[in-house]
Amino acid sequence: IVTEPFDYVVFGGTGDLARRKLMPALYHRDLAGQLPPSARIIGVSHRPGSTDAYREEIGKALTEASARTDDARAAIDRFLQRLFLVTADGRSDDGWAELRVLLQARPDSIRAFYLATAPDLFDQICRRIGAHGLVSERARLVVEKPFGTDFASAHALNEAIGHIFHETQIYRIDHYLGKETVQNLLALRFANALFEPLWNAGHIDHVQITVAEALGVGQRVGYYDTAGAMRDMVQNHLMQLLCLVGMEPRSARDADALRDEKLKVLRSLKPIDGSLVPALTVRGQYRAGMADGAAVPSYLEELGERAQPSQTETFIALKAEIANWRWAGVPFYLRTGKRLPERVSEIVITFRAIPHSVFDGAAGPISPNRLVIRLQPDEGIKLELMIKDPGPGGMRLRQVPLDMSFSDTFGVHVPEAYERLLLDVIRGDQTLFMRRDEVEAAWGWVDPIIAAWQASGEPPRPYPAGTWGPSAAIALIERDGRTWHEDG
Ligand code: BG6
Repeated sequence: IVTEPFDYVVFGGTGDLARRKLMPALYHRDLAGQLPPSARIIGVSHRPGSTDAYREEIGKALTEASARTDDARAAIDRFLQRLFLVTADGRSDDGWAELRVLLQARPDSIRAFYLATAPDLFDQICRRIGAHGLVSERARLVVEKPFGTDFASAHALNEAIGHIFHETQIYRIDHYLGKETVQNLLALRFANALFEPLWNAGHIDHVQITVAEALGVGQRVGYYDTAGAMRDMVQNHLMQLLCLVGMEPRSARDADALRDEKLKVLRSLKPIDGSLVPALTVRGQYRAGMADGAAVPSYLEELGERAQPSQTETFIALKAEIANWRWAGVPFYLRTGKRLPERVSEIVITFRAIPHSVFDGAAGPISPNRLVIRLQPDEGIKLELMIKDPGPGGMRLRQVPLDMSFSDTFGVHVPEAYERLLLDVIRGDQTLFMRRDEVEAAWGWVDPIIAAWQASGEPPRPYPAGTWGPSAAIALIERDGRTWHEDG
């Protein structure tokens, strides 16, 4: 429970992220009794509007998403009383005096500034927060992704916000780190004696990280076309997952101890550049196809007139390696894309084959053990083992899962990532946020790959919507005698 009074100032307060994620997250924490009575949420928007209209708009969004009971209505009404709207933005000084008056009424409260705007405003908004004297002792800054578009821009943004806020006040969000199942990866690795002794190149054959989405780019095509899957998903979410799988146990409980370990992984990644890029990466872009039994348009059709012909990738598969003592030689296959057959995020650890079989051929093939950590949907953990098929027919072996499903085991609603992260900011816990050097190191690894794609001038490979990406992505892993994991 957060007991200290706070003001959450959300720039982009009427935007998509605020409406779909941030306000519902704060509302659910309020519902759980975790917000102190005096907590305020101040939406800042460049669109002129009033607090009353804002409350109505957010109320509508919350009502649509929750059960239509009297209790829910009462809870939403209570939550809406916390909301205020200020009309201002990063482009001018208009409206900032009003924001200042509102905040100065409670100078000792925790003050969290959340930048949920277009990224080109991050720098200007920060400068205005500073210039208008809003950075109190207890101020914090929360920055959404995308954090820069390459190393140079991320570095410049870090410099700019670093003039206004100290690193201990800056919370760079990667919402994947707030997912319950992602945190469970830490529990699995470091609260069990079973896995850690095997968690290395001696026992692990390879790792797969898949974040597949069934949806297309849709309304966000304007932003997406400037980003592509590499900047939108790999540089942040997939690389963070890779860090959590690959890192050493942290040496102390503080946030920096964990972030130090992630940074070491990022710095150990074998560079992929120049001539290695075509062999180790595959990029794709979806064409028209089928999703959920219905015909869906291609990426280029969604893009319309905007920036044709676009070479933005909507799919990536790549083979990475952490070049350190623990992981040398173990491939980490990463794969993400839009308009794939289903929404599924999972980490699959395949252990090495047994060194020698004591069974004869009639026992059948012996598959290596596999640990599947399912992040979403149907969150769970599965360990695939070989057992004897029951019956008198001799020794026949079969692969069977030890299967733990979160909903069956806990039966509770899994909180959204933002619920956790938004309150961590108020609690002052930076553990699940990216430090400056991490973000820059991730860009440092990604930049040469993007540069090589651009230099080659080759367009992304086409794949029909509703398929697992271009066939080259399958070849990427099959060349190594392995296959992508498909749930059976
Ligand atoms: C966002 C990306 O960061 O993550 C989106 O910008 C993507 O393109 C989303 O759809 C996926 O998040 P989740 O939580 O739905 O897996």
